[in-house]
Amino acid sequence: MKRIIAAVMSAVMLVSMTACGGKKESPEGSGKKTVGIAMPSVKLPRWNSDGDYLKSLFEKSGYEVKLVYSDNDSARQNNDIISMLNEDVDLLLIAAVDGKSLSASLDEAKKKEVPVVAYDRLIMNTNAVTYYVTFDNKEVGRMQGSYVRDKLDLDNSRGTFNIEFLSGDIADNNSKYVYDGAYEVLKDYIASGKVIIPSGMTTLAQTYIARWDTGVAKNVLKLRLNKYYSDTRLDAVICASDSLALGALEALDEIYKVNSQPIVTGQDGDVNNIKELVDGKQSMTIFKNIRDEASVALEVCKKILNGEVPTGKLVDSLAVDVTYDSESYYNDVKFVQTYLLRPMVITKENLQVMVNSGLYQWDQENKYLEQIMKE
Ligand code: BGC
Repeated sequence: MKRIIAAVMSAVMLVSMTACGGKKESPEGSGKKTVGIAMPSVKLPRWNSDGDYLKSLFEKSGYEVKLVYSDNDSARQNNDIISMLNEDVDLLLIAAVDGKSLSASLDEAKKKEVPVVAYDRLIMNTNAVTYYVTFDNKEVGRMQGSYVRDKLDLDNSRGTFNIEFLSGDIADNNSKYVYDGAYEVLKDYIASGKVIIPSGMTTLAQTYIARWDTGVAKNVLKLRLNKYYSDTRLDAVICASDSLALGALEALDEIYKVNSQPIVTGQDGDVNNIKELVDGKQSMTIFKNIRDEASVALEVCKKILNGEVPTGKLVDSLAVDVTYDSESYYNDVKFVQTYLLRPMVITKENLQVMVNSGLYQWDQENKYLEQIMKE
């Protein structure tokens, strides 16, 4: 009952926010509504693509766009969002650097009655956010864990296997989902001793890599390789993302001397990692079609900007594999209405799937992939 009342209240709030909030005209007098898009950092390829793609998509749909990147710095992201609010945006679409640290700017958004949609990463501890568009991040982790389980044939093969985790930034709410998904698949094997984690670094708190940084991932794995793997086989490194996988591969290249190649997982389908897949160094990645994520975000934002209330029905009108979930994504204040997309496992065998998405093309030699940044 509480949940129904909360949903009705937030719907009412949203309608009144959009009816009376935001500016009516752009400063230039064009009458166009303005969407403020906040992305975490230009340093990770994923957010460059999302930022560029979202900008061109919203512009094509008749909106003005302000796009900011905040160098993976949450204080800076708060300031960047406040600056956008001071420039009169009508709606904010935010991929948070730190999902728990946006209260300063979101309080300001509430004051100005500007609606906020969380993009890819849930924003915590606030009732300013009503909608969340993302991929199923727990499924991303399950896919990574299942890939390792199947490749090592844990159910049938003899002996024990050594694995290590390199998890996402603990400030990013997605990291827990990805870690939980992978751990869920492997936990019984770990409990039975079939899978061993020689470093003893098992939890998210022990294995997270600040800012999802390649260099940090490299150093962390180097330390573990030096200490535990000078003559011990490492069977898999469960890297939560492609940026971490690159660091792991560099560390392995530099100091891992045992004659066996560990499985290395990833996530995002960054072109540098596709090269590693083709060359047989990285084993898999997870493709999350940002064109789909952006198009769902656009439809949710459009409805809000038109003074309508997006509901579960929206998914029926979208030509994308997306589900609506209003009961799973609790941000410590309320359940945020979520549109959830499906990720996909990519290996060097099915790279054509990424080409078919229209976001990548084969290079001149038909060997690696290049990204097509804009439509
Ligand atoms: C995204 C991943 C990305 C990671 C690092 C996560 O929140 O869901 O796609 O790899 O951030 O940028």
